[in-house]
Amino acid sequence: MEHTIQDRYAPIGVFDSGVGGLTVAREIMRQIPNEHIVYFGDTARVPYGSKSKETVTKYSEQIVRFLQTQHVKAIVVACNTASACALDTIEKDVDIPIIGVVKPGAKAAVSATHNGKIGVIGTSATIDSHIYSDYIKELNSSAKVLGKACPLFVPLVEEGLWEDPVTDEIATRYLSELIDVGIDTLILGCTHYPLIRKAIARIVGDGVALVNPAYETALELRELLGEHNLLNDRKPELGENRYQFFVSDAAEKFKTFANSIIKYGILTAKTIQIEEY
Ligand code: DGL
Repeated sequence: MEHTIQDRYAPIGVFDSGVGGLTVAREIMRQIPNEHIVYFGDTARVPYGSKSKETVTKYSEQIVRFLQTQHVKAIVVACNTASACALDTIEKDVDIPIIGVVKPGAKAAVSATHNGKIGVIGTSATIDSHIYSDYIKELNSSAKVLGKACPLFVPLVEEGLWEDPVTDEIATRYLSELIDVGIDTLILGCTHYPLIRKAIARIVGDGVALVNPAYETALELRELLGEHNLLNDRKPELGENRYQFFVSDAAEKFKTFANSIIKYGILTAKTIQIEEY
């Protein structure tokens, strides 16, 4: 697709099943601060991690159609589950750059590992898809990848138990088999996990490098926009609001959570009827 100069000032569409993708939006805000963002969190239909590929794909397609009404110049599938289940389908539907969080996370893990033993934690849908393992093996066929679904981490994060003995206890149970096989790299393959990074680091110890796909995705997005001549070169003006937030339910609750992890002050979150798209 040919891009006009104006396109570079258009926003980036970022979506997730709910609040977790804000960890990805936050990295984009940090790494490419000139960019405008339209964020959609599917708070009415979260969680995606326990749903089928078909359902997650249908939801993701609706969200992409909504984001296109906002004239976004690129789309970031911030949700690991949607990246695992739906990206292959939705990238066929759009003619703008689109990236998920899985490939950048897999790439970073392959660069980080020394012993070739990589652990991946995520939702059941992400782990069952084996997508991280497939990408890693494409890059390093001798790598050993061990996946572990950690479904209780999402509610623990959303309850605010980031630094709590309960979280440490659950993390110990989930992560011990990964520690036992001697992984030296662990992919935080779910949007929520960077928020309990400290607890995870405590359990796995210093010898294990933690890979945050949110950070890697922001860097890859910057590169991708550059390749397409779509990087916004206009510095934000003082007080300018570059970020818009949309949800499918419970906007106030979303706002409270969002303001606890993003320091830019989320003024409004608008509720839309996502099924209509
Ligand atoms: N955002 C999801 C992910 O990264 C976690 C929450 C959910 O299950 O929807 O996989």
